[in-house]
Order: sequence, then structure tokens, then C-alpha cells
Amino acid sequence: MDTLIDLYPWIKALHVISVIAWMAGLLYLPRLFAYHAASEPGSAQSETFKVMERRLFRAIMNPAMGAVYIFGILLLFSSPYVDWSAGWLWVKLAMITVLTTLHHYYGLWRKAFERDENTRSPRFYKIMNEAPTVAMIVLVLMVVAKPF
Ligand code: HEM
Repeated sequence: MDTLIDLYPWIKALHVISVIAWMAGLLYLPRLFAYHAASEPGSAQSETFKVMERRLFRAIMNPAMGAVYIFGILLLFSSPYVDWSAGWLWVKLAMITVLTTLHHYYGLWRKAFERDENTRSPRFYKIMNEAPTVAMIVLVLMVVAKPF
């Protein structure tokens, strides 16, 4: 336990690095979906989007989310600022649930595109792009400012 506390700044750095990689995917993948939804199924462009989406989701977003969770959970045990009666921690956990749920839906939408079965409009994906942005802003304000 003492070792974990000593490692706190390093774990936090690794946590933030993984957060950046995960957020990059959460913000960029719906953009790709929006362009993909506007392209003809079976076209060369659509096939290129499939490869980009698969690589982004599988090679970056899945491992990054895993790393965010691993380092985040380690921080729960090593951070001197974790206080389970504080509101910011619970709002942060709620926003993590939002981001994780979005990640899951992105996975389902990606599979629909892979099968050429997308039925949603480019506009839908552009609107969806706002959800991770809002959740991330609330989350970072909570964990950095800890207003309550
Ligand atoms: C399972 C998921 C997560 C858990 C359990 C978790 C937990 C934690 C904990 C306990 C801290 C230390 C707080 C402190 O010492 O002040 C922390 C720091 C941080 N977390 Fe997370 N977190 C998770 C996911 C996320 C996500 C998704 C983001 C952003 C989108 C994020 C952004 C940050 C930032 C920026 C810090 C550094 C704050 C500072 O140094 O003031 N975390 N996290």
C-alpha cells in the first residue's frame, strides 16, 4: 500500500496519458462515422472508413479505456484526495459511466458500418460528437477543481 502511495504521481501521469488516448478516439470516431454515413456502401471510400474505424476502435480506444480504468482504480487507493463523501468523486464516476456507455455504443455502430447496415444520418453522428465533449468537460472540472 505504501509503495502504491509513493507511486501516486506516476500512476496519475499514466492515467492522464491513457485518458488523452481514449478521449482522442471518443471525439474522433463519431466524426469518421459522420463522413462514413455520407459515403456510398461498398464504395472504396466506405471500405477505407471501415479500416480506419476498426483500427481506431480496436488498437487505440479499447486498450486506452482499459488503461484508464486500471490506473484510475489504482488512483482510488493511492490518491490523498480521494474522499468518498465528496460530491466531485461521484459526479466524476457518473461521467465515466456516460463515456463507457458511449464507447459501447460506438462499438455497436462500428459493427453496423462494417456490415454495411448503418441506418443513421451524418447529422446523428455529428450530434453524438457533442456527448463525449460535455462529459469530458464536466469530468475534468470535477477532478481538478473539486468544487464540492
Ligand atoms: C475508471 C475510471 C476512472 C477512475 C476510477 C478515475 C479515478 C481518478 C482518481 C482517483 C484520480 C486522482 C484524483 C486526485 O488525486 O486528485 C484521478 C485523476 C484524474 N482523472 Fe481520473 N478516473 C477515471 C477516468 C477518468 C477519465 C475518463 C478522465 C477524463 C476524461 C479522467 C481525468 C482525470 C484527470 C485529468 C486527473 C488528474 C487530476 C489532477 O491532477 O488534479 N479520469 N482519476
